Amino acid sequence: MNDTINTIMNRRSIRAFTDEPISAEDKKLILEAAFRAPTAGNQQLYTIIDVTDQSVKEALVPICDDQPFIASAPLVLIFLADCLKWYNAFKGAGCEPRTPDVGDLMLAVSDTNIAAENAVIAAESLGIGSCYIGDVMENCEKLRSLLSLPEYVFPAAMLVFGHPAPNAMKRELLPRIDYKYTVHENSYRALSGDELKDALEWKSGVRSYEEWIKAFCDRKYNSEFSREMSRSVREYLKQYDN
Ligand SMILES: Cc1cc2nc3c(=O)[nH]c(=O)nc-3n(C[C@H](O)[C@H](O)[C@H](O)COP(=O)(O)O)c2cc1C
Repeated sequence: MNDTINTIMNRRSIRAFTDEPISAEDKKLILEAAFRAPTAGNQQLYTIIDVTDQSVKEALVPICDDQPFIASAPLVLIFLADCLKWYNAFKGAGCEPRTPDVGDLMLAVSDTNIAAENAVIAAESLGIGSCYIGDVMENCEKLRSLLSLPEYVFPAAMLVFGHPAPNAMKRELLPRIDYKYTVHENSYRALSGDELKDALEWKSGVRSYEEWIKAFCDRKYNSEFSREMSRSVREYLKQYDN
């Protein structure tokens, strides 16, 4: 196994950090690794907010489903899918750009998340742990106001980084769904009920599969935070109603 594969295969999300700050040199490396990610048309369809103000970190906690470790992370980066930057550049140069559309947004979200993942792997290679915060897509009105987000700018991802607390590195790596249920050859095939059970049953631990999946559905899919995420995303999408 080479060093890159080894870094990827041994990464886990880290949610507890030591007080050690991230050096300016490491922060620059993490950000420049993000910039080196593949990017559609070499446009870098993102803007990254480096949250250095502790009061902003603290304000992010209730906005992002009350996850207190956001406030204790030495480095918090918010990756914004930015459809405004190029639109303004086109307008400023006298082009006649159409208004940004949902395709532009999807492309920008891909671009943004790819940059974010490069930051994750770069950090990991430097011994710095990280965790995504998907809840940054919630509470649209509050987040927009906190970060002064204009139209056509969507918070695709948030990452918290820090040196892992000693116990955080002891947690076992979480397994993944078996290869055969994740990779289909040449065309898509919906998995049968039996296949889905076989693919997911190992997650249920001591409970029966049926009991576990009902509880998981309530906790992750039918939950308040999940409904709030969709409400917020619909709000962001309203800008694209031409
Ligand atoms: C899009 C996305 C959103 C996530 N949001 C959160 C989050 O809000 N809070 C959290 O603690 N972990 C979050 N995670 C981390 C996942 O829970 C974690 O990646 C998953 O459980 C697998 O664990 P591992 O990263 O240690 O392998 C998120 C990960 C992704 C990719």
